[in-house]
Amino acid sequence: MDNPVIVAIDGPSGTGKSSTSKAVAAKLGLSYLDTGAQYRAITWWMLNNGIDVNDPAAVADTAGKAVVVSGTDPLDPQISVDGVDVTMPIRSQEVTAAVSAVSAVPEVRSRMVEYQRAAAASAAAGIVVEGRDIGTTVLPDATAKIFLTASAAVRAARRSTELNGTVSVAATQEALTRRDAADSGRKTSPLAMAADAVEVDTSELTLDQVVDRVVALVEQKLATV
Ligand code: DC
Repeated sequence: MDNPVIVAIDGPSGTGKSSTSKAVAAKLGLSYLDTGAQYRAITWWMLNNGIDVNDPAAVADTAGKAVVVSGTDPLDPQISVDGVDVTMPIRSQEVTAAVSAVSAVPEVRSRMVEYQRAAAASAAAGIVVEGRDIGTTVLPDATAKIFLTASAAVRAARRSTELNGTVSVAATQEALTRRDAADSGRKTSPLAMAADAVEVDTSELTLDQVVDRVVALVEQKLATV
């Protein structure tokens, strides 16, 4: 049997990672894993259990207690923690504000990376995995590595639309910039482009164009292995 196809899609928030990754997985008949949702789920669990997310020792001590289970269907990605479906609550502003601090703690990352490698190993046909450190750290032998980018203004406008305009573009841009700085500046596997990744700037592209571009890149890689 052919080796499973592993597609790593990394990049900062608001670059279209989730929409692109789900569509690419559906088009290629692959599973899908949203690793950001896993960091959000453990953050939700910490907030819900009264853990001080700004105390790295408290976060490290409890990191192993939550059981995160991720669905891998690109058409219906669900996630639960300790049996509670948190697919919707992990998108709250509260979780978004706390997730960078929680995901910077090495004990949290090693737990999540275990889940991520297990999901990739058990995906029969293959999997599209989206995140920040998939190509560099989690799955360095991925078949294809894509790094999505977009200008800060475009990313903020997209996020503000996702939030139905409830938060201004300016406030969204400031929050995004802060989160990117935290994600890129942390010690353990920061947001970074792998040396062998292909960068796709999505600022001026439609979702369909980005998806076509990524599918073409994956097919190109498959033709050469
Ligand atoms: O993609 P997202 O916005 O849902 O990710 C939420 C946070 O999780 C983001 O601030 C960075 C962190 N994250 C990470 O550290 N490593 C990953 N592989 C994925 C996300």
